[in-house]
Amino acid sequence: MVELIVAEDYQRLSEQAAHIVARQIRNKPDSVIGFATGSTPLGLYRELVEMHRQGELSLAKVTTFNLDEYVGLSREHPQSYYRFMWENLFAHVDIEPDRIHFPAGLFTDGEAACEAYERELEAAGGIDLQILGIGANGHIGFNEPAESLTLSTHIVGLAEETRQANARFFENLAEVPREAITMGIGNIMNARAILLLASDKNKAEAVQSMLTGKVDPKVPASVLQLHPRVTVLVNAEVAAHLQT
Ligand code: PGA
Repeated sequence: MVELIVAEDYQRLSEQAAHIVARQIRNKPDSVIGFATGSTPLGLYRELVEMHRQGELSLAKVTTFNLDEYVGLSREHPQSYYRFMWENLFAHVDIEPDRIHFPAGLFTDGEAACEAYERELEAAGGIDLQILGIGANGHIGFNEPAESLTLSTHIVGLAEETRQANARFFENLAEVPREAITMGIGNIMNARAILLLASDKNKAEAVQSMLTGKVDPKVPASVLQLHPRVTVLVNAEVAAHLQT
């Protein structure tokens, strides 16, 4: 079941998202949270850091799994998702570093790297709350539009539109990695609850297809219609383009 919530603006969306994440962690301090990178959750992370600074939220017992990582970037690379999470969230809260999990961006055996992440997810007992953004092409994590869905952690060639959308963070398009390692659709669907955020009007079409289109691997987010507990949080700008 998908519940749609419209927040007035990006700040309110970030506050509401933080409220949902904080409630999860307060109800279950040792929650397993799936984190996402990208511009959209930045406000959420700022709010979580602020809650922590105010002494309102502890992540000391939380375990984290990130959705994806670029293949070929070391953890120290300025554009690695590992670094993004440390800079925007992990360094500013009381999270235990050994409870933080990322798929490996650098590896000699891709299959082994994917299997290792699957084992870590399984050992943690799955994800309680998965945070998601959405690509303008309907991707979630780096599950790009395809002929079929891939369920488990896998290595994926990035869609050209995704590389172009992410080129803003790199010197030029050629620098953007061509592959990523990502949780699969099954990993995401196994999360006990999902919170998807969209705040840019160029996402409205993808959000619309996700909410009311047919379930189609060409719009990977559309599978979320089959999940029992999804909250889709959009700002008024995105909502203005939706027909629900
Ligand atoms: P964005 O990316 O938050 O930077 O727009 C989301 C995504 O592509 O999944």
